[in-house]
Order: sequence, then structure tokens, then C-alpha cells
Amino acid sequence: MLLFVNGHLIWNYFVFAGHFCGTGMENASKRRPVVMKTLIVYETKHGTVEHAVALLAGKLHGETRTARVSDTLPKLSKFDTVIIGGSIYFGEIQKTLAMFMVKNREELLGKRLGLFICGAHPDPAEREKELENAFPKEFRDRAEAQAIFGYQIHFQELNPLERSIAKSILRQKVDKVGLNEEAIEAFAAKFN
Ligand SMILES: Cc1cc2nc3c(=O)[nH]c(=O)nc-3n(C[C@H](O)[C@H](O)[C@H](O)COP(=O)(O)O)c2cc1C
Repeated sequence: MLLFVNGHLIWNYFVFAGHFCGTGMENASKRRPVVMKTLIVYETKHGTVEHAVALLAGKLHGETRTARVSDTLPKLSKFDTVIIGGSIYFGEIQKTLAMFMVKNREELLGKRLGLFICGAHPDPAEREKELENAFPKEFRDRAEAQAIFGYQIHFQELNPLERSIAKSILRQKVDKVGLNEEAIEAFAAKFN
């Protein structure tokens, strides 16, 4: 009888304390899941990188914004992850992207970083070198993913000089449509 009375009181005490203090369990279930916020900053000349960015954005979890580097950019402080991508012309990434990295160096180095290029060099080893040269070493050392997403060539969009370069140096003879979706998928998976 006495035990029952004590047990009853003890039970009530826990119900009372749990009501005000909580166990943490119910709060955890109410807490909103952390949403990854990603900004993809890119540059393109004939639209390949823009296409790659759209494919990548579609594969990333969380909230993703995309912005051409020459457009008005949102505040970097709003994002946990920044992905930077451009295309290679005459061995180099666009100057606008290089300048963006110099100007925002400190803030970018505090983010989760992803780096990619589009390039059509016929030699895979050269393409790897282009990727290496496109980004500062300190960015590459920090990056969670770095990749080459392939390339596209649309001859009708090139001027005569560009056409002859595509044919002679890049050894492209016909239009190339389509990017390396596997590389884009694998890149996205590193952030998800
Ligand atoms: C004139 C010209 C020069 C190029 N130079 C290079 C190069 O040096 N290395 C490379 O890997 N790709 C080179 N490319 C291929 C482009 O990087 C490729 O077509 C890319 O998909 C273009 O992306 P964009 O349309 O987003 O600018 C060149 C293409 C053209 C037309």
C-alpha cells in the first residue's frame, strides 16, 4: 500500500519534471532538419557550363541558387557551400571567375567548396592540368569535389577562327552534344 503510494508520487514527479524540462527527445523531433544552402557561381561562353550547372543543381539536395559570375551575386554569407565552374579557352578558365576567387578568397576558403571545368582538350592528362591551373592551390586543397564535366561544341555558334581552332587544336570535326552526367552525378554525391 505504502509502496503503491510512493510509486504513484514518484511517477507524478517525473511527469511534472518532464513537462517543464523536457527530455530532449520531443524537441529533437520538432527541430527542423538542417538544409544545405548551395550557391553555384559560373561563367560560360557558348552555354555548356550553364547546361552543366542546371544538371548539377538538379542533383544537389537542399536549396541551390545559381548565378553567372558577371551578374549580381547574392551574399556569400547566406551559403554553406559554394561551387565554382567555368570553361577552358586556350588553356585557361575565364578571367571573371579568377577575379571572383581573388576578391572573395577569405570568405570562400571558409565554405564547403566544389570546383569544376568544361573542356575539350583531346589529351586527358592535359585536361587534368587545365583543371589544376584553373583554381588556386589553396582552393583545390580545401575542395570537397573537383571535376571535369566534359564539353560541348556547336559549330554553328563559333566564329570562323574558333571553328578552325576547334578543328585543328581540339580535333573536333562535328558537333558534340551532351556532358559527362556520371561525373556530374559523382560530384553532386560528395555534397549530399
Ligand atoms: C576557340 C576555342 C578554344 C578552346 N580552347 C580549349 C582549351 O584550350 N582547352 C580545352 O580543354 N577546351 C577548349 N575549348 C573547348 C571548350 O572549353 C568547350 O567547348 C566548352 O564546352 C565550352 O563551354 P562554354 O560553352 O560554357 O563556354 C575551346 C573551344 C573553343 C571554341
